[in-house]
Amino acid sequence: MAKLLTVQGGKPLEGSVHVRGAKNLVPKAMVAALLGSEPSQLRNVPAIKDVEIVTNLLQIHGVKVEADPVTNDLTLDPRESYSAAHSEIDAYAGDSRIPILFCGPLMHQHGEAFIPDLGGCRIGDRPIDYHLEVLRNFGAVVDKSPTGIHISAPRGLKGAKLTLPYPSVGATEQVLLTAVLAEGITELENAAVEPEIHDLIAILQQMGAIITVYTDRTIRIEGVDRLSGYRHRAITDRNETASWASAALVTQGDIYVKGAAQRDLMAFLNTYRKIGGEFAVDDDGIRFWHAGHALKPLVLETDVHPGFMTDWQQPLVVALTQAHGVSIVHETVYENRFGFTEALKRMGASIQLHRECLGSSPCRFGQRNFLHSAVISGPVELQGADIDVPDLRGGFSHLIAALAANGTSRVTGIEVINRGYEHFMDKLGDLGADVVMSER
Ligand code: EPZ
Repeated sequence: MAKLLTVQGGKPLEGSVHVRGAKNLVPKAMVAALLGSEPSQLRNVPAIKDVEIVTNLLQIHGVKVEADPVTNDLTLDPRESYSAAHSEIDAYAGDSRIPILFCGPLMHQHGEAFIPDLGGCRIGDRPIDYHLEVLRNFGAVVDKSPTGIHISAPRGLKGAKLTLPYPSVGATEQVLLTAVLAEGITELENAAVEPEIHDLIAILQQMGAIITVYTDRTIRIEGVDRLSGYRHRAITDRNETASWASAALVTQGDIYVKGAAQRDLMAFLNTYRKIGGEFAVDDDGIRFWHAGHALKPLVLETDVHPGFMTDWQQPLVVALTQAHGVSIVHETVYENRFGFTEALKRMGASIQLHRECLGSSPCRFGQRNFLHSAVISGPVELQGADIDVPDLRGGFSHLIAALAANGTSRVTGIEVINRGYEHFMDKLGDLGADVVMSER
């Protein structure tokens, strides 16, 4: 039976939510445990779908994964791991892109790996060419077949000098998880330096890796023979934090986000202040609120870290429909991340999409047939509507639009949100939202 969320809009969200470990770090930290020769412990683990998927994938490779029933802290024991059957990997990969990051650890431990057809949010083509290219440079043999990609390392894996065409988060993680046990030195230029990357590097260093990050996006890894385990507390999910912050603006509310960390949100907080949102930082979190005066429009460009993150774009666009004037958003990380605006337009938003790079600098998608810039005019009164959730961040954006709208919205496909937002229904209840989940 599919779920249906009925939302009565018009009430400000007020109260406190606790945001835990990052969806974009925790699954990778779990995969890193496979590199170790001893058990690892991961704390601050959210109860989200992506963690479930990786738990299953690790277990079919013989890794013992135990979750503390109260804290959800994980103990991961890789000492009896083995290669899994391709059919099992396929069955458990679910709608995630994480299986591709098993390549390095599995090749080091068992000489081979298998990549099934990958899932993940439909926000662009999302090719894996950088991943396959870096693996080949380590000496891996890549065999593509209709059921997936088989990767092996008949002559072992050797360090390499690599340059990424674009600072891809996933490809940088691929290099880190492969180079740490490869023979010799690896130098990666044009690497991603997101906070989640630094947290993964901290974990690998605890295990015994030798990794240096230079200020020019170069990462140097000196391969070692053996890695132990780690004991680590995952960084807070800055994307969930930014989503609740946008929800406070859109619903004219006031939300305290326990666990939020200012250092990982600098670009977001600057933008939040420019729109007219207020925030206050303390040792345990950040309070976000609508100050009661008109929101201001702005010109925004998404970028890799330390720029404004692409995963913050969709919830913030909903806030820009309430700003007094014309805003411009240039999405430079994914070529197809404005699909969610269709539903917002049906709710009364004034949004036009353009193929041009409407920002300060042309991006990879300019001159190509992608609607990757948006012009948003406001303020508008959003009206309740029937909405089907397209992807994770698009789904959360639709939810906050429905919470701000006049009247009733009926939201389907809501399960997608479980992939990245822990206990979101309880949190909505804690914030006073008028929502009812039913089966249909
Ligand atoms: C990670 O995806 C995050 N997902 C994404 O969050 C996030 O948007 C993205 O990094 C950028 O910060 C996870 O960590 C699980 P990329 P990833 O490789 O690693 C192109 C969310 O909502 N590219 O940095 O898949 C790619 O198509 C999700 O939480 C290639 O062309 O992102 C994209 O345009 C969505 N070839 C760009 O690089 C490749 O081989 C950035 O992708 C790899 C990437």
